[in-house]
Amino acid sequence: MSKVTAKIESAAQTDSVTLIDNASNKSVELPLLHGTEGPKVVDIRRLYAETGFFTFDPGYTATGSTESKITFIDGDKGILLHRGYPIEELAEHATFPEVCYLLLNGELPTPAEYEKFEHTIARHTMLHEQITYFYRGFRRDAHPMAIMCGVVGALSAFYHDSTDIDDPHQRMVASHRMIAKMPTIAAMAYKFSIGQPFMYPRNDLNYAVNFLYMTSAVPCEEYVIDPIVSRAMDRIFILHADHEQNASTSTVRLAGSSGANPFACIAAGIASLWGPAHGGANEAVLKMLHEIGDKSRIPEFLKRAKDKDDPFRLMGFGHRVYKNYDPRAKVMQESCHEVLNALDKKDDPILELAMELERIALEDEYFIEKKLFPNIDFYSGIILQAIGFPISMFTVLFAVARTVGWVAHWNEMIEDPHQKIGRPRQLYTGPSQRPYVAREKRR
Ligand code: ACO
Repeated sequence: MSKVTAKIESAAQTDSVTLIDNASNKSVELPLLHGTEGPKVVDIRRLYAETGFFTFDPGYTATGSTESKITFIDGDKGILLHRGYPIEELAEHATFPEVCYLLLNGELPTPAEYEKFEHTIARHTMLHEQITYFYRGFRRDAHPMAIMCGVVGALSAFYHDSTDIDDPHQRMVASHRMIAKMPTIAAMAYKFSIGQPFMYPRNDLNYAVNFLYMTSAVPCEEYVIDPIVSRAMDRIFILHADHEQNASTSTVRLAGSSGANPFACIAAGIASLWGPAHGGANEAVLKMLHEIGDKSRIPEFLKRAKDKDDPFRLMGFGHRVYKNYDPRAKVMQESCHEVLNALDKKDDPILELAMELERIALEDEYFIEKKLFPNIDFYSGIILQAIGFPISMFTVLFAVARTVGWVAHWNEMIEDPHQKIGRPRQLYTGPSQRPYVAREKRR
């Protein structure tokens, strides 16, 4: 691999960066863009046309893939804002439908707008009856995320009247449908896996309670909901609603950039979310805590996490953007205690183990030096388990909550007049051109 030496000169006064290729002595001035918050961004859109160079940034560690007005994160300070509002304030005072409205429309709803929005979402909670037959085609032991990928992918085969992405009305109908139907799809995936009858949505219940009803109720008993549990569920949804250009949101944008319909794009997002480095981490945290089993074994697992030759990582720790405490994890930790107290599970050995693991890891030189703090997934699994969800449902709940973030970003992308198909380039390191060799002549 040959290397070109280049020198970047930053000139604050001219608000641009000059890139100089010492080999050819060519230079190019690249504009610096300023957002309302966050670091300046070097605009490299003309780089290839003017120099013939591409940039190289696998994993996008220093690349802004889009302009966005939805969510801002300051990873060093541990700040997360949705449309300017801090996540802690939203988790404390707002409801999930309010946050959905905010993410989709840019402003918090007035009382009349809120009522109308809740009504609209409630009117879209049912699934086309034909979709319910899909579930029977899956094995009973299928992972619910596998079912989610299949069923959500199939939605575009049912809702033809909201797949014209150039029609703003159809885009909004598709967005409302996704937000409204996702809890029903997720609850049915769960009920199917445990062999219980589907519970159809109840539009008199709020979003979080309706979801708990569809997953926990049975036709032969009256359903009673604990308000602490329903508030915790609503908060879990709020905390997972959006997170800037994460892997699944970027997947939705990339899929949508080709003009694919919204249901297909969200199915792509669900697939991306499933991985243990992303949304699958809450499931992995619980599995890890059970594997550790006892506080006395924490040092052994920490040693493994620090060993470069061992693929084991401390699940629920570390984040691409946060190099400080994940603000969502703080709220989640509070909720966790509230729920465990309310459900009389405060002496839960798994929570005690988690607290001890957190304490030891936060004092450990390796975690301090690499700025590895607990992320949201560290606590969400513990609450979800206390509420009664099986581990396999954790990522499904994340998908239900993140759907609004995905559709908000998808809408923003379609409305962007500069939107182009997402098509990265590469640093090719394979063989150079060579002639085909006939099969009988190959040695
Ligand atoms: N345990 C042990 N070491 C870790 C961990 C961890 N959980 N996370 C990062 N590191 C180490 C890496 O080995 C690396 O060390 P090195 O510099 O010596 O090579 C360094 O910290 C930086 O880590 P990267 O993998 O380069 O960071 P990246 O930004 O690519 O990864 C990620 C972030 C995927 C979240 C990572 O921290 C991780 O795998 N964490 C565990 C999984 C997890 O909790 N995921 C949930 C993310 S939050 C969410 O999606 C809602």
